[in-house]
Parts: sequence; C-alpha cells; structure tokens
Amino acid sequence: MSEHSTYTLWLTGYSGAGKTTLANATAIALRSLGYKVECLDGDELRAAIGKGLGFSREDRMENIRRIIYISRLLARNGVIPIVSVISPYREMRELARRELTPFVEVFVDCPLEECERRDVKGLYARARQGEIPMFTGISDVYEPPQFPEVTLHTQRDSVEDSVQSLLEYLKERNLVV
Ligand code: ADX
Repeated sequence: MSEHSTYTLWLTGYSGAGKTTLANATAIALRSLGYKVECLDGDELRAAIGKGLGFSREDRMENIRRIIYISRLLARNGVIPIVSVISPYREMRELARRELTPFVEVFVDCPLEECERRDVKGLYARARQGEIPMFTGISDVYEPPQFPEVTLHTQRDSVEDSVQSLLEYLKERNLVV
C-alpha cells in the first residue's frame, strides 16, 4: 500500500527567534496524534549536507533547494517535514511554496532586539563586531512573510500556546483530524 502524501510545515524567522524549539515541540505534539514527522533544522542540515555553502544569497538559495528536495521526498511518502530555517528571502519561500503543496508557512515572529538580547549562540555579538559578514538582521536582510498561514509571537506567547495555535490552524484546514 502506498502512503498518501502530506503537507509541509515551514518555519521562518530570525536566528534565535525560536524556530527550532517550536519545530521540536510541534513534532512531539503531532507524533502523539499518530503522525509521522521529520524535523529539518537549518543548523543540522548545514552540518550534514551543507558542505561548501556559506551565507551569500546564492548559497542560501542552494541550501533551500536541497531542503525542498528532501522535504518533497518525505512529504510524498507520508511524512510531514517540519522545516526550520531562517529562509530570509521571499523568493526562496515562494519557491518552496510552489514546490511543496500544501505549504504552511509559519512566521516565527520575534523582534530583532529580542533575538539579539537572547543571543543564544553568541553570533549577534560577533556579527556586531563585524566578525560575521552577511548576518541576517545585522548585515543582511530578513524579508518578513506578507501572507504567512500562521504567525507565532515567541516574545509574547509560551511554547505550549504557540504549538496549540498552530495545531488549531491545522485542524481548521483538516490537516490534523
Ligand atoms: S538560511 O538563511 O540558509 O535559511 P539557515 O537556517 O540554514 O539559514 O542557517 C542559519 C544558522 O546559521 C543560524 O541560526 C546561525 O546559527 C548560523 N549562521 C552563521 N552565519 C550566519 C549568517 N551570516 N547569517 C545567518 N545565520 C548564520
């Protein structure tokens, strides 16, 4: 019996906005409902299959192309890909949307000042010192989604509340039953 195809959850936002945390918590929630999911996380993927890729526009596009490719393989085999990557340019998210249907774009919205205050990996401080060129939000753009399916506010809401609102959206769309 062949598996039916699924949808893709695509979390976009600044570094430190909470994408990975929300992706992992959503994965736990969906698994407990019986769904098969895989988390595709930016940092992990860059370590695993990002050899040779930096953060120029071209390299970020290539990073996203690879991730779209894997997501398609998963989605067509009944696994829900939960992608958490900065994906700063509209162009790349539009590409993902075209290639991955149904596509649920989740804007993990957190003010840059808050991400910088958290500075979980110490990268913002280094970027401010000029040690990391083309750092998203500091020396490279982040183009916020104009029409995301879901927006989560990680400065305001708890992880549990955010996962709950995402699940509610998926229920409305009949993507979770
Ligand atoms: S994306 O732009 O190509 O979507 P991705 O999500 O894979 O980015 O990787 C982002 C992670 O790489 C960040 O969380 C951070 O840890 C690290 N990083 C290193 N250099 C940069 C940079 N110049 N801009 C953004 N993130 C960077």
